[in-house]
Amino acid sequence: MSLLDKFAPFAAKRAELLKHGNLPFGVVTEQILSPTEGIVEGRRTILAGTNNYLGLTFEPECIEAAQKAIAEQGTGTTGSRMANGTYDGHVALESELAEFFGRSHALVFTTGFLATMGTVATLAGRGDVLLIDGDCHASIYDGCRLSGADIIRFRHNDPADLDKRLSRLGDRTQDTLIVTEGLFSMLGDQAPLADLVEIKARHGARLLLDEAHSMGVFGARGRGVAEAEGVEDQVDFVVGTFSKSLGSVGGFCVSDRPELELMRFAARSYIFTASPTPSVVASTRAMLPLVASRPGLRDKLWDNSRRLYAGLAEAGFKLGPQPGPVVAAFVDDTEQAIDWWHRLLEAGVYVNLVMPPATPSTASLLRCSISAAHTTEQVDRVVAAFESLRAAPKAAGAAV
Ligand SMILES: Cc1ncc(COP(=O)(O)O)c(C=O)c1O
Repeated sequence: MSLLDKFAPFAAKRAELLKHGNLPFGVVTEQILSPTEGIVEGRRTILAGTNNYLGLTFEPECIEAAQKAIAEQGTGTTGSRMANGTYDGHVALESELAEFFGRSHALVFTTGFLATMGTVATLAGRGDVLLIDGDCHASIYDGCRLSGADIIRFRHNDPADLDKRLSRLGDRTQDTLIVTEGLFSMLGDQAPLADLVEIKARHGARLLLDEAHSMGVFGARGRGVAEAEGVEDQVDFVVGTFSKSLGSVGGFCVSDRPELELMRFAARSYIFTASPTPSVVASTRAMLPLVASRPGLRDKLWDNSRRLYAGLAEAGFKLGPQPGPVVAAFVDDTEQAIDWWHRLLEAGVYVNLVMPPATPSTASLLRCSISAAHTTEQVDRVVAAFESLRAAPKAAGAAV
């Protein structure tokens, strides 16, 4: 087999997908009309798969802050945090993040992926153990690979399985980092954190929690599932992203552990990549206080989430285990999932199509993410579009 032969299965997969029309991946949004609407394939479309949970991407003060930063500091930093890429905005953002989370230390990375991957890969090394929830995000898996640590998976959201695996580790629990997520991005279920932290403390391990999808969504101040569950003091490291509730791009890690500061000298994804641009830093800084000061957005987000979940359940779709801002409908047959995804788009509704192996099981997902900015009428239109899938005859060639 030659170097490039490995792409043959991708070519076959692409050809297969093209049979259903345009490729579902990389669908082009030709115009963004608002946080919840765009023009997609020439059609006015409700955006119900954007992770724009608080719907703040057009917030005037954040846009203004970004424009000012670009005018004053330029389009990019052209260097890494370790070299020329640390501006006063990066330092200020770190101290504001630490304050937001009530922690002593914060590190800003260029993307959420780099934050999670780099933190996992740097905290654990050869001889250590990474004990991760089986459904963790790719950035956590990649961090595991890079770390050189021994990797053990526990069953998704299963405290008893975590307990069992820690018990088997004996003294090695001292060198163990447990990694899980606050809100899981595919099925929208939440980690049973109160149970997990009790088990972690009993075994003397440490815990890293990825709040990428839960920041802004859970907790009185929007700090995430750990805040909502009242267990923040039991979580050693929190990682997250600016690309969802904060409406920009970038990532962070916060902790009370002083070692976090030393990660600046050790985390390769912090050292060897250009720092976030001034405009990104400025809009994120302007957005952060809004997360805490506008709890009404969370109330609206949850109202919308429950309405969508109830509507799709009523329409007969099998959904993830609990209501929340991520609502995923299982579709056992991949061909049908692709067909339905196209039909939703034709009906003016964009959701994410997720197919195995990116899904936790063999089923595909029509994954919706809801926003505080969606109107009740928009949520009802999404539900109606899903209902029409069941009512209308299947497209030619689509197997059921
Ligand atoms: C759990 C989790 N961690 C990290 C990331 C990476 O974040 P970003 O897309 O901002 O790089 C994601 C992305 O969706 C995620 O779901």
